[in-house]
Amino acid sequence: MLFKMAGIGAGALVSIALMSSGALAQTIGFSQIGSESGWRAAETTVTRQEAEKRGIDLKFADAQQKQENQIKAVRSFIAQGVDAILLAPVVATGWDAVLEEAKEAEIPVVLLDRMVDSSKDLYLTAVGSDLVHEGEVAGKWLVDTLAGKQCNVVELQGTTGSSPAIDRKTGFENGIKGHDNIKIVRSQTGDFTRTKGKEVMESFLKAEGGGANICALYAHNDDMAVGAIQAIKEAGLKPGTDILVVSIDAVPDIFVAMAAGEANATVELTPNMAGPAFDALAAFMKDGTMPPKFIQTESKLYTQADDPKGEYERRKDLGY
Ligand code: AHR
Repeated sequence: MLFKMAGIGAGALVSIALMSSGALAQTIGFSQIGSESGWRAAETTVTRQEAEKRGIDLKFADAQQKQENQIKAVRSFIAQGVDAILLAPVVATGWDAVLEEAKEAEIPVVLLDRMVDSSKDLYLTAVGSDLVHEGEVAGKWLVDTLAGKQCNVVELQGTTGSSPAIDRKTGFENGIKGHDNIKIVRSQTGDFTRTKGKEVMESFLKAEGGGANICALYAHNDDMAVGAIQAIKEAGLKPGTDILVVSIDAVPDIFVAMAAGEANATVELTPNMAGPAFDALAAFMKDGTMPPKFIQTESKLYTQADDPKGEYERRKDLGY
């Protein structure tokens, strides 16, 4: 049976096939960024699992970190006439044209975990965390931990031009604002990967007296922190003690490092963005219910005091 109902924005119409059971029979395209981090791998796994639970036919496209591949994938989903599209946008700019095309085709788009700078009426909703808040939580943790002690911080940024790199930087700067004892002395992209996190940390250590002038590392994700921890150890220093380590994601490996005393704090980003996205799409497709423009997931701080071994055990089989 085929139904027509109120769709995105100004009364666009979306066709929805209903199975005899009454459940929504959907084909949904998912344009994923790639597999740069453990967190990204978990998001992919969870998205597949959530789709399977709901009987959704998920068409998956791995963009290998390239926006041009994501644009091609979205165009291909539109040509295939999918019912909806999930898009985890690698960078924030350059999406207007392809989002307009999806809107023209009356296919709702849901953004996952990263934001775009396009007009809000070009997508149905976005599921993600408050990325500025995550950076603020990390910055405030450092302020409290240092209790006024002088500290030179090095920062490993995420992928240049991505919303988490932009917002986590701003958030951290907000978090340490007004605390003149803390100074960011170096800041460079490590592209959210372990390999680049390690490479860039090696260059920071060389440039800062072998690490003697560095008191803390702030990494925009745990994978870069794990790579940097290795570099700190190879430089003969103790990560977590000689150089404090604070990062974002809460992947299992950072809890291993925390349990060993080599990382100090992480801010959790749930990999389950797809659950809320599919729920919003189901309600929208059922009776046109418009979700809020932003569905916010929680950001929780974990430190060495929060049972890192237990947190590792709880996460280790979740697809990271
Ligand atoms: O967009 C979310 C970020 O992307 C995660 O923090 C990071 O690990 C990933 O690569």
